[in-house]
Amino acid sequence: MKTLLIVWHSMTGGTRQMAEAAARGAAGEVRVRLLPAPEAGPDDMLAADGYLFATPENLAAMSGLMKDFFDRSYYPVLDLVNGRPYATMICAGSDGSNAARQLARIATGWRLRPVAEPLILCTRAQTPEAILAPKTIPPEELRRCEELGAMLGAGLAMGIL
Ligand SMILES: Cc1cc2nc3c(=O)[nH]c(=O)nc-3n(C[C@H](O)[C@H](O)[C@H](O)COP(=O)(O)O)c2cc1C
Repeated sequence: MKTLLIVWHSMTGGTRQMAEAAARGAAGEVRVRLLPAPEAGPDDMLAADGYLFATPENLAAMSGLMKDFFDRSYYPVLDLVNGRPYATMICAGSDGSNAARQLARIATGWRLRPVAEPLILCTRAQTPEAILAPKTIPPEELRRCEELGAMLGAGLAMGIL
């Protein structure tokens, strides 16, 4: 059975719900490893057949702990994951594009192969209170994450990704 590695970080819960939804979508088709970024590292990258990276956008960048995962993993797996498929999900207040760009740039360095457009969900939180409050992602948006997970799972299982 193929393995999909989902690496995620979340401060207020939005990205966690997105990652969990994607894992539900992929379950059954592949073995899903759903790992918080601080618990993931190069060995997990090497052991997987495809990847889903999920991060909040914080200060126009991926979150610090997500970046830490890449900082720890980048050189140990360089040239060992060439051509493997990946997708990204970003939970943002109102933008998300820069975090998506950063993830794409790292994945390009790893020679990973994008198999979907970045899935960016905006929570529309504007005030400091709203930004720091726990997030609830609406079911219809979680469905998009589940569908992305299902596509990755089915594609890996059928060997077409
Ligand atoms: C310190 C901080 C910086 C943020 N910067 C941005 C930003 O640059 N662009 C954006 O769209 N949202 C920004 N946000 C909003 C978060 O992306 C949004 O609240 C999102 O839901 C966070 O995901 P999480 O619930 O998984 O932590 C920021 C939030 C925090 C706490």
